[in-house]
Amino acid sequence: MTTVTTGVPVRTPSVGTAHTRIEGRDKVTGAARYAGEVPFAGLAYGWLVLSTVARGRIRALDTEPVLAMPGVLSVLDHRNAPRVETDYTGLMGMRPDPTIAVFQHDQVPHLGWPVALVVAETSEQAREAAEALVVHYEEEPHDVEFGGEHPDAYPVDGHLPAVTEKGDLDAALASSAIVVDAEYTTPEEHHNPMEPHAATARWDGGRLEVIDSNQGATWVVGELANLFSLDPSAVRVRSEHVGGGFGSKGVRAHQVAAVMAATVLQRPVRVVLTRRQMFSLAGYRSPTTQRVRLGADADGRLRALEHRSLSLTSTVHEFIEPSAAVARVMYDADAHHTANRVVRLDVPTPTFMRAPGEAPGSFALEAALDELAEKCGIDPIELRLRNEPDKGPVSGLPFAGRNLAACFREGARRFAWADRDPRPGLRRDGRWLLGTGTAAASFPSGAAPSTATATAHPDGTFTVRISAADIGTGARTALTLVAADALRVAPERVRVRIGDSDFGPAMIAGGSMGTRSWSWAIKTAAGELLERLALGADIPPEGITVRSDTAAAIGALAPAERHSFGAQFAEVAVDVTTGEVRVRRMLGIFAAGRIVNPLTARGQFLGGMIWGISMALHEEAVRDRASGGHVGADLAGYHVATHADVPRIEADWIEDHDPDDPVGIKGIGEIGIVGAAAAVANAVWHATGVRHRSLPIRPDRVL
Ligand code: MOS
Repeated sequence: MTTVTTGVPVRTPSVGTAHTRIEGRDKVTGAARYAGEVPFAGLAYGWLVLSTVARGRIRALDTEPVLAMPGVLSVLDHRNAPRVETDYTGLMGMRPDPTIAVFQHDQVPHLGWPVALVVAETSEQAREAAEALVVHYEEEPHDVEFGGEHPDAYPVDGHLPAVTEKGDLDAALASSAIVVDAEYTTPEEHHNPMEPHAATARWDGGRLEVIDSNQGATWVVGELANLFSLDPSAVRVRSEHVGGGFGSKGVRAHQVAAVMAATVLQRPVRVVLTRRQMFSLAGYRSPTTQRVRLGADADGRLRALEHRSLSLTSTVHEFIEPSAAVARVMYDADAHHTANRVVRLDVPTPTFMRAPGEAPGSFALEAALDELAEKCGIDPIELRLRNEPDKGPVSGLPFAGRNLAACFREGARRFAWADRDPRPGLRRDGRWLLGTGTAAASFPSGAAPSTATATAHPDGTFTVRISAADIGTGARTALTLVAADALRVAPERVRVRIGDSDFGPAMIAGGSMGTRSWSWAIKTAAGELLERLALGADIPPEGITVRSDTAAAIGALAPAERHSFGAQFAEVAVDVTTGEVRVRRMLGIFAAGRIVNPLTARGQFLGGMIWGISMALHEEAVRDRASGGHVGADLAGYHVATHADVPRIEADWIEDHDPDDPVGIKGIGEIGIVGAAAAVANAVWHATGVRHRSLPIRPDRVL
């Protein structure tokens, strides 16, 4: 090509080569500022007061003594807080969760509901006063118990249809040689990013500015503009560094409370959640009860498949964990029924948590497949290969790439699966019983419209701006590699700026769609910029800037089943004297599109797989029936896998470029956790001969 005034065009692609995080040094030296750290002159601090009853109404708040405490500036509650608008449709057509409309009424729908914000000159003063605030409640009876079948359960569509039904299930089950009928349960699980949720809000010359920790500045702008009846252009959200999100970092109570306080006080106000508050206010994964019925011929070919899932939501908002949806992609059968249902309880609203639906759904479905393999006397990988659908089992659409079989073949080779004796309970290493297990993984691959600008500077460098969020995934670095290739220069010549809503609307870091959606926009803008430069114009001091969005291109994508796939393998040791399960080895092979940065991509896959170990063996939020709150709402009481729990883990991938994506990306954020817990559970069966259908597989359950 003709270039670019910028010097040497680069032929070696950057995409596909390992690159350390561009902001890594800033992060490890403390130079990177997070939302709770950015300095502001005149900053005031808000501290949320959460309800201590699980249902009822606020009778009185004794604010006067608190207002007299040192440094206290204000107490906001339902009597004096600014009113907000909640009658709107936000991101992805979702209605807002009324939980974010804080201090609008005296009702308390769950324990940990925000009832007041105390604002003071320092964080310590705010906390002291918040803890001293006496709130009187009229308590009402509450129900937080999530059991098996619930009489009030009902189907909920969410972003997917609640129910899909094809064929006569009872007839297909009756004519099946082999039937598996099992119930699986998963507990309430919490995502607790390292960086707690934090926001600083201020009014700046008629514009609302929020420095925030979130998964998408565009998202936060949209919700705040709707809530406070502002034009979106009057709201700016910045989030340069984000210490983890996992689905929990959208708009939550603290940002709204901070904006209210900044409005009332006309000062910058910061609100940071404590770890304990995050258990009430950050969202979480609903527990699930899932029933899977499989009917197959003696050769393992499925005739009947039913996957029904029950999850919970709050009384104020409907959120569904769509666990049965994964069956709509994975396996076909003459009779194929799936249903996602929900029950309302007096608990906080759950939310997206890494692989919402697929994570618990794949545990049930892939464990049931393993039970079917056992009953049929067929190797679990062979069983899956015999049931590979040639089109979407429910949609009937073609698969835009389905490399699951290749993942299993490569994984089986590297895990030495062929040497496996399928019989359970036979291998011993001292007091340990040993077993291996496998499971399939899939996660949807999508893209959403985004805006990017690309600027060529006279010195031969480029700046790319996009309102992306790097929530620790390495997105900033991946986007720099994508931009470098698109601009045909080395990554050192490209500066990618993210985390600022003023860069234009863009997809969130969510749904495994962030890097793909942003890359698409960057590639488009870069391509147009190169065309401009090829015309030979001189670059003025302010540079030449091109702005592009991808709405039309993405809208033109033909309908298809678009997913990443993967094969998970685990080896476990089960201590017959204590019931402890140790994962000794784990391997995940993924077909997840083109891998932009192998270094950070491996970290994404491994992170998901480690979370799968955690899900299989450790994680469980226990709700106390009497109080309606958690037992041990902190990282001491809520167990997660630590270094000592994580063995040698390998994640790798096969060639799987997405032909419909300009860069070949499919998205890798969530698939690592999918199937991982099932692989561990299936290995526990292989070790012990006992099926564990309830997570986590605690020592007391194993014994
Ligand atoms: Mo993810 S659960 O889409 O942040």
